[in-house]
Amino acid sequence: MSDEPIYPHPQPYTPNFLRRIRRGLYSWFGLLNEWDFRVPVGALRFMGLHLLLVNDPAAVRQVMVSEVDQFPKHPFTLWMLEPLIGRGIFSVNGEEWAHQRRLLDQALQMAQLQRVLPQMVAACEASLVRLEGLADGRPIDADAEMTLVTADVIVRTILSRPLEGTEAEEIFAAFSRYQKRAGRALMLRFLRFPRRRLQGYLATHAAPIRAWIAAAIDARLADPDATADDLLGALLAARDPETGGGFSRDELVDQVCVLFLAGHETSASALAMAVYLLGRFPEVQQRLRAEVLEVLGSRAGAPDRPLGFEELRQLSYGAAVFNETLRLYPPLSFFIRESQADTELAGSRCPMRALVTLSPWVIQRHEQHWSEPHAFRPERFLTDTPGELSSADDRRWARDAFLPYGLGPRKCPGAAFAQQEALLVLAELVRRFEVLPDPEHEPELVARLTLRSRNGIRVRLVRRTPRSALAPEGPRMDAPEWQQNLVQP
Ligand code: HEM
Repeated sequence: MSDEPIYPHPQPYTPNFLRRIRRGLYSWFGLLNEWDFRVPVGALRFMGLHLLLVNDPAAVRQVMVSEVDQFPKHPFTLWMLEPLIGRGIFSVNGEEWAHQRRLLDQALQMAQLQRVLPQMVAACEASLVRLEGLADGRPIDADAEMTLVTADVIVRTILSRPLEGTEAEEIFAAFSRYQKRAGRALMLRFLRFPRRRLQGYLATHAAPIRAWIAAAIDARLADPDATADDLLGALLAARDPETGGGFSRDELVDQVCVLFLAGHETSASALAMAVYLLGRFPEVQQRLRAEVLEVLGSRAGAPDRPLGFEELRQLSYGAAVFNETLRLYPPLSFFIRESQADTELAGSRCPMRALVTLSPWVIQRHEQHWSEPHAFRPERFLTDTPGELSSADDRRWARDAFLPYGLGPRKCPGAAFAQQEALLVLAELVRRFEVLPDPEHEPELVARLTLRSRNGIRVRLVRRTPRSALAPEGPRMDAPEWQQNLVQP
């Protein structure tokens, strides 16, 4: 086995864009050539559309930070996501976006990381109970489990209630159909397929998700006594300091759809890849576990309670493991913007209305930015720890060529939330189980709305501690429904 974790290699260079589009129908990676990983800016013209792929860190900052108003989100983002998130914050621009961002920042501030931690812990404990029943060395699908735990976290945080079994399955199935079709629709749009038809096709898959979220919001709005201390409560209470206005009911449905999509698909993708890497690199897993035990050991009565708020902050190696996972497998592997005027990016012409792509997937594996770009080396991110192997270059690129959460004013407002959730889930996982690879399985990565594995992420778990209060007594649990297609007999 090579020492590098899985990496779908880019295709050899071809000037034939139609061939690339055909490959891209399946996964956005199909559009990329080897060459894209070497140049500061890649450019291509196709059917009157000017496409640019920007890798140069200074040009990336120009697009996302210093000249952000000149590069709003591309209209393709809006129409591709509109059936699912309406005019939610993720895809709109200008004052419409600024108003929503002021309200959302306020709501997230009200909800606070420390206050949402108990909800995260409850979802994590539910996940550990499910895994206890499967941790006897047989293969399980970590992708399915991480999708469930992150969806449970976001539902508990927004609505103060857990995600129930059957609703979870229906929602995941609808999401997965939407993901697959949205990526394909984007490629077909390049070929000038009519927008309305593509959107209608996507709307049928978005409908059950929107209906489920709208029903939960309506139930809350209909109850005059409901003052839940959750993210929905904070969204209802938020007021724009500039206009005094709040979210209307329809805007709330859009925002909660954004939070559900942005808050669980991304975290699920990153956590599933982190579990894959822990299984693949036992020495990293061991070091992470040692750090968790050391942090816990510093408090009396540690072993039987989950990690607390301050303890999670002490997991510097854990944070490095998660960052290196996000570098190699950024859940949002590309973002698209539209230039509003003729300009230049890193010496290349960027005409008005060009489609400008920024790709963490390419930049974070770019040969000119990272040494051994495809190797898994968490210590790159231990930049403040004396004696670690991170070099001056690593430190520089960790600052300039690392953008899993985006950059500038549109940077992810949920980054700290995601970091806390990921550290909790990974720390509790390695504390209780040994994660082993499944030698029979190689994940097949595809980039659609988020980076996912087409055939799941299979690992094996072995219990480290005897069955504790976490596990229900009794015979071995059968694989739950969401695992049954993937768990090997
Ligand atoms: C590992 C997990 C996550 C990753 C990698 C991630 C990544 C990103 C990225 C790259 C963007 C910017 C996209 C662009 O510039 O086009 C973004 C935006 C956003 N994210 Fe996240 N995200 C994560 C988790 C979350 C969570 C947990 C939440 C909510 C609780 C969230 C809410 C949002 C929202 C609302 C936006 C839109 C912001 C705006 O347009 O102003 N994300 N995310």
